[in-house]
Amino acid sequence: IAHELRTPLMIGSGYLHALNKGVLTKEQLATSMETITRNVDQIVTLTNDILFLQEMDLVLPEFQSVNMVEVVDRVIDKYKEKAQARHITLTTKGGNNISNIQGDVKSLERAATALVDNAIKFSAPGGEVEVSFAEQGNQVSISVRDHGIGINPEIRSRIFDRFFHLEKNGDELYSGVGIGLSITRQVIHQHKGTLDVQSVFGEGSKFTMTLLKWK
Ligand SMILES: Nc1ncnc2c1ncn2[C@@H]1O[C@H](COP(=O)(O)OP(=O)(O)OP(=O)(O)O)[C@@H](O)[C@H]1O
Ligand SMILES: [Mg+2]
Repeated sequence: IAHELRTPLMIGSGYLHALNKGVLTKEQLATSMETITRNVDQIVTLTNDILFLQEMDLVLPEFQSVNMVEVVDRVIDKYKEKAQARHITLTTKGGNNISNIQGDVKSLERAATALVDNAIKFSAPGGEVEVSFAEQGNQVSISVRDHGIGINPEIRSRIFDRFFHLEKNGDELYSGVGIGLSITRQVIHQHKGTLDVQSVFGEGSKFTMTLLKWK
């Protein structure tokens, strides 16, 4: 984590010093600004995630009636371009007449985002990611399924740990710091729900959040 913060800070600061000295050409100026922006954005995202986890520890949000189908639609909207760029199809199933659940909409959107983000990241180009909804008794479940790399049984017990991150699988490198699933786990825990994972190494994974219905 120190590395993930320090690197963009060092890069940003390096470029800023060069800018200050006035030694850059016009072309270098443009690319410098781009690099600084990208690196600062990275620091902002990571800082927000860390603070989000911290705040989740402290404040128990007041729960409201939340439509998870709408929450997931927003997440999918956010990821449309990224999925398209990697030729991954993002679909939903079973979203008709799903009951509202009790929860905090912002936290739940962050929790669902982490699952969709992973499903896309750990899928090969051309893969399919499906979010499905189901309800049973007083519970609603939301599953995110992919046909990506799957989870090696050796790391299975650590994937929910804060800052556990898989850098590499075969020749493939993966970005991230290992914060997504710990956010999802914490959010679901605060909602008195459950978060389960089923996965076959080399075949794919399915993460399921189960939440309590509203009244
Ligand atoms: N859909 C998935 N398929 C395969 N492995 C997964 C999947 N989701 C999570 N994992 C494993 O769990 C680890 C932790 O996931 P998590 O979302 O917390 O971190 P990350 O995705 O590596 O980084 P970040 O979420 O901070 O960008 C991943 O590095 C990966 O090893
Ligand atoms: Mg992640």
